[in-house]
Amino acid sequence: MALTDFPRHPLTFGPSPVHPLPRLTAHLGGASLWAKREDCNAGLAYGGNKTRKLEYIVPDALAQGADTLVSIGGYQSNHTRQVAAVAASLGLKAVLVQERWVDWPDALNDRVGNIMLSRIMGAEVRLDPAGFGIGFKESWTRAIEDVTERGGHPYPIPAGASDHRLGGLGFANWAYEVERQERELGVFFDTIVVCAVTGSTQAGMIAGFAALEEAGGRPRRVIGIDASATLDATRDQVARIARATAELIGVTRPLRDDEITVLPGWAGDRYGVPVESTVDAIRLTGRLEGVILDPVYEGKSMAGLVDLVTGGQIPRDATVLYAHLGGQPALNAYSGLFTH
Ligand SMILES: Cc1ncc(COP(=O)(O)O)c(C=O)c1O
Repeated sequence: MALTDFPRHPLTFGPSPVHPLPRLTAHLGGASLWAKREDCNAGLAYGGNKTRKLEYIVPDALAQGADTLVSIGGYQSNHTRQVAAVAASLGLKAVLVQERWVDWPDALNDRVGNIMLSRIMGAEVRLDPAGFGIGFKESWTRAIEDVTERGGHPYPIPAGASDHRLGGLGFANWAYEVERQERELGVFFDTIVVCAVTGSTQAGMIAGFAALEEAGGRPRRVIGIDASATLDATRDQVARIARATAELIGVTRPLRDDEITVLPGWAGDRYGVPVESTVDAIRLTGRLEGVILDPVYEGKSMAGLVDLVTGGQIPRDATVLYAHLGGQPALNAYSGLFTH
C-alpha cells in the first residue's frame, strides 16, 4: 500500500504556508531558518497538527457509522479542541476527557483557551483530576462506555491522535507536501525540527521522508525536541509509530535507529510547565518575527532549535524547516508569564 491508497477527508485549507524566518536567521547568524505553519492550516478552531492527523482518521470514523468522537487530553489540550472542531463541522458529537495533566497555578486553567473553545463548539467536556500520561486511561474507557450505554456509536481517538493505526498518516502526507513545496520554492530542507510528546507528528514525518527517500529523494534529519519530560515513553512511541506507519505506506526497508532522534534538554522537569528557555524562545520569536509560540510545546521546540543552531549541532550552512504545530490558544492559561 502507498499513502495515496488511504482515504483522506480534507479538513485543512490545503498545503500549509512555508516561509523564511529572516530576522531569527540573522540573529542566530545562520543556519537558514524557515517555518511551516500548522497553526494556520485550517479554518476549524485555529487548526494545528491534530487537524492533519484527523484527515486520515475521520474516514474510518465515518465508515464505522460513529456519531460521537471520544478523546482525551489535558485541560488545555490542543488535540481535544481540534477533535471538538472536527466533530462540530461533521455534525458529530464530541465527548472529551480533560485531565489535570499540568500542575500550573493559573486560576483560569480549566476555563479559558482550548477548553473554552471546546465548550463553545458544543463538546461534552469532562474534567478529571488524573495527571499526565500518554497511555490509555480508565476515565477514557468509561467515557466510551457511557456513549454506548446512551445508545450512541463512539469512535475512540487516543491522546494526540497518536496511538492509532492511522495516526501517523497525516504527517507522512506532510512530508510529501514539503517535497512539493520545496520544488516550487527551489529550496531543500536538510533538517526538520519538530516538537514531540505523543509522537505521531514526528513519527509520520520520519515515515513519509523514508518513503520519499526510497523513491530517490535526498536524505534529511528529522530532529524531535521532547516536550513531554517523559523522554523514554515519547521516544518509544515515536519509534513504534514511525515503524508501523512506514510499513503501512509501503516502505520496504526497516527504519534505522539513527532515523529516530528525540532530544531531551528543553522540556524542563514537567510536561506543560515552561522553563526559562521556553519563555525566552517565545519572546525571541515574537519580537523578531511576530510569530506566536505556546509555552507547552512550540516554545520548547524553538528553544531547542535556537540552542542547536548556536551550539553548532545544526551547522551554519543547514537549511532548517521548523514545524510550527499550533497551540497558541493555551497561552491564555499562562497569562502570569507575560505580565511585563
Ligand atoms: C501545539 C502542539 N505542538 C506539538 C505537539 C506534539 O505533537 P505529538 O503529540 O504528535 O508528538 C502537540 C500535541 O501533543 C501540540 O498540540
